[in-house]
Amino acid sequence: MKGKDLLSAADLSREDIQLLLSDTEELKSRGCSSFLSGKVLALLFEKPSLRTRVSLEVAMYQLGGKAIYLSPAEVGLGKRESVKDVACVLSRFADIIAARTFSHKTIEELAEYSTVPVINVLSDFEHPCQALADVFTIYEKKGEFKDLTIAYIGDGNNVANSLMLISAMCGINFRIASPKGYKVEESILHLAQTYAAESRVEVLCCDDPQTAVKGADAVYTDTWVSMGQEEESEIKRKAFKDYQVNSELMSLAKKDAVFMHCLPAHRGEEVTDEVMDSAASVVYDQAENRMHVAKAILLYMLGGLEVQLGYR
Ligand code: CP
Ligand code: NVA
Repeated sequence: MKGKDLLSAADLSREDIQLLLSDTEELKSRGCSSFLSGKVLALLFEKPSLRTRVSLEVAMYQLGGKAIYLSPAEVGLGKRESVKDVACVLSRFADIIAARTFSHKTIEELAEYSTVPVINVLSDFEHPCQALADVFTIYEKKGEFKDLTIAYIGDGNNVANSLMLISAMCGINFRIASPKGYKVEESILHLAQTYAAESRVEVLCCDDPQTAVKGADAVYTDTWVSMGQEEESEIKRKAFKDYQVNSELMSLAKKDAVFMHCLPAHRGEEVTDEVMDSAASVVYDQAENRMHVAKAILLYMLGGLEVQLGYR
């Protein structure tokens, strides 16, 4: 990893990702251990969460450590107290911090002043832990990454950014279809295309969901209205109305294609009940894998599974 923190998918090298995925597999088969006995994780959240909070709390518990959840109201990040002071104080108590912030700048500032590792567990720009769980789920379902294609339908948001980067690094073809005005940022697309060229795969950004989904191995979508964008709900719902993942769209993908969603899903908007509840849907496996991947990330950032097991 480039620094002590995991703020962006781009902080990970191909080797980091490979190690994290194999550690996840190992940890998933092991269940409980005392690898992080005595270690404390601070969970600093500016936004709501189900999966991220619970997966991290359970991961720490099952590794013998402790997680302390700090709600938005409690800390008042940047309001009750400066981001710098929160980072400096938490570093004196916790061994690692997982933060969910509105602005990506806030998490960068936290990391700048924290003396312990900081993990981005969703900012307005990236969601790297989700993307790691997603590629792990694909690996479990398909057995390898070679010749696979992910089609992402919808908003060029935090989830899309991290997934695009990690897929390109893993050697998975990535196609994204978004309406005008909601495409992934040029800087992320450019970086993903650089990774893709190194991995000899392709990253395609287009307008048309059908073009993206044709022959894909995994069809992925996320909410049209991310946390913090509630005021734009009406405008976004109109812009995305032709971007729903339904059975008709899924029928263009490979016969054995999986349907993926980071959740929470808005059934009837970005995805129909029929697709969410179909045999192709792996959304609850994805959610469970957040916990197994969280264990691998926590261990990796606090010394590594190899230290605990005495190998590598
Ligand atoms: N996928 C995800 O991050 O879910 P939560 O917002 O519930 O944590
Ligand atoms: N893009 C969504 C992801 C939720 C896990 C959001 O930021 O709200």
